Amino acid sequence: MNSQRTVIAEEQVRDAYRRGRLILNYRPGDIVTAQARDTAERLNIRLVDQPQESPPPVEADGVTATRRALYRRNPGWAASKSTASSRAQTLTKLALVGTGGVGSHLAHLAANRQIAEEISLIDILPGAAESIALDLRHASGITGSMTRLNGGTSLDLVSDASVVVVTAGRPRTPGMDRSDLHRINARVIQGVGEAISTYAPQSVVIVVSNPVDEMTSVMLDATGFDREKVIGMAGSLDGARFRDALAQAAGVSVADVNAMSLGSHGNEMVPIASKATIRERPIGEFLNEETIKSCRQITIDGGAAVVRLRRTGSATLAPAHATLELILHICGHLNGTIPASVRLNGEYGITNSVVAVPCKLSLNGVAEIVELTLTDSELQQLRRAADAIRSRLGIRES
Ligand code: 2OP
Repeated sequence: MNSQRTVIAEEQVRDAYRRGRLILNYRPGDIVTAQARDTAERLNIRLVDQPQESPPPVEADGVTATRRALYRRNPGWAASKSTASSRAQTLTKLALVGTGGVGSHLAHLAANRQIAEEISLIDILPGAAESIALDLRHASGITGSMTRLNGGTSLDLVSDASVVVVTAGRPRTPGMDRSDLHRINARVIQGVGEAISTYAPQSVVIVVSNPVDEMTSVMLDATGFDREKVIGMAGSLDGARFRDALAQAAGVSVADVNAMSLGSHGNEMVPIASKATIRERPIGEFLNEETIKSCRQITIDGGAAVVRLRRTGSATLAPAHATLELILHICGHLNGTIPASVRLNGEYGITNSVVAVPCKLSLNGVAEIVELTLTDSELQQLRRAADAIRSRLGIRES
């Protein structure tokens, strides 16, 4: 009998969940209790009964071997990865304004993760928010989620929310650029922002409506909130798309890829190749320049590719996950840096424009804007993105 056998009980699964993990590994021979299996299923955690495969050694010539050795001495090349944290807190209330595809998927994910004691859903369309709240309450009979859910058409439902996510507005359809939505969605964001400043003056606001960088700027002005309190969701989504593109090109699992994207959530997006890694090594060891360029373009075109296939609207699942990731950072389930669209005040040499940059988040919103050392070309592209967003908003640099 194996003397190293351990018992995986419900407590271990709950601990993995609290740490934000999606997979709990155990060794062959370990005993997993029935209750642990039930809880894992309910909390959406995969129990994997194998030691993690170590990556196969990659063949290398002399130049590559030297670069790897240099890299090992300078791991600052890598984009920092989110890690589970012990400062995790449950939000008292999460409010979702807009219950289209992204809003409703987010409600589902957030209820299953029980990241808030209460979720309020708001949608201008009568019955839309109420029906999703009711549907999810029914689902809780299976999932066991204890999150309270309610819905309605009135914006006063955001009252006292600690986090408000705004997905309201029109999505784009084939042939449309995100910036084509500017005028119509700016009006929506203005009204929602004024209501948030009245009913949830202490909240952190996450803007998802497109064009997201511009709408984050409109939200900042409409609420009058400090810049730390209003962020746009784009970088977390674009980073996920970049990681997928790199994983597909290199033929590795996306879990082996670490990469982020900054800049605008549009044509001026800046997927950061210089800090991207595969199996913790620079991507240049796995992919040539041309392939990396094509992965960057696939990332920039990612949203449009989904719109072309769907025909009736834009992506919903990945944006919902990317928004959840921001919330998990805000309430401390995840630590580390994550790109978010924020108004810059001199960081990266940019003033008075909203672009995605790496941030550390807390219950008060942006705790820190992290200034990475980018290549000259990446920095220039980031500044060009800021200029383009500022000029689309018709505002000056200072
Ligand atoms: C996207 O890129 C909806 O803007 C979002 O899919």
